[in-house]
Amino acid sequence: MQDADAQKLAAARRAVALVEPGMLVGLGSGSTAELAVPELGARVAAGLAITGVPTSRRTEDLARRHAIPLADLNAVARLDLTIDGADEAVLESFALVKGRGGALLREKLVAAATAREVIVVDASKIVPRLGARHAVPVEVVPFGWRHTARAIERLGARPAPRQSGGEPYVTDGGNLILDCAFDPIPDPPALAAALKALPGVIEHGIFIGLAHTIIVADPDGIKQHEAPGGDRER
Ligand code: A5P
Repeated sequence: MQDADAQKLAAARRAVALVEPGMLVGLGSGSTAELAVPELGARVAAGLAITGVPTSRRTEDLARRHAIPLADLNAVARLDLTIDGADEAVLESFALVKGRGGALLREKLVAAATAREVIVVDASKIVPRLGARHAVPVEVVPFGWRHTARAIERLGARPAPRQSGGEPYVTDGGNLILDCAFDPIPDPPALAAALKALPGVIEHGIFIGLAHTIIVADPDGIKQHEAPGGDRER
């Protein structure tokens, strides 16, 4: 295993160590969040009683392979803790960009229902401002998507329809993703609101006020950051 992968695994283990008996646990998507699933499965095999709520079909399949009991989001009122990844994270504000894995809609629904959202990233994901490294994924309805893309362009982005194997990428919800390069975003809450207001936009990958803990796999070791105020009911 490469050093960077070993660091990510160590950070995922740190997140899994936060899981306590009886918890309802959100299971994130993407390569980092997927590292947590076998670790959680090992704890379940050793007797830990928890129920997982997956954020994608892919994570659901992985969790089933590791015999983690699962529930649908509709079947639970509140999740205790979710372990997920991110594409960008700002430590000053705990704002995130998510969705390169295409699961941003379910990830945001699960995050919004979670008392403690734990984000695991490697140090390369820490940015001074959102949009600095990655485009913002925006999930849009297929009907009339070119109109939606033009409306997003008017907000200052360069939207690119995501492809997979030469075909349009289709999300678990049957929608399309536009990867929207904004460059550093001066006012993420304003952009988030403007995107949400557009007809055709289902959800976007800007996560504000949803993360509580950010665990960073750093070459110097694992660093755990808690949101200012420690308010887990935001
Ligand atoms: C999935 O839709 C994403 O939000 C991921 O959580 C994010 O892209 C991070 O993925 P990696 O851990 O694979 O970098």
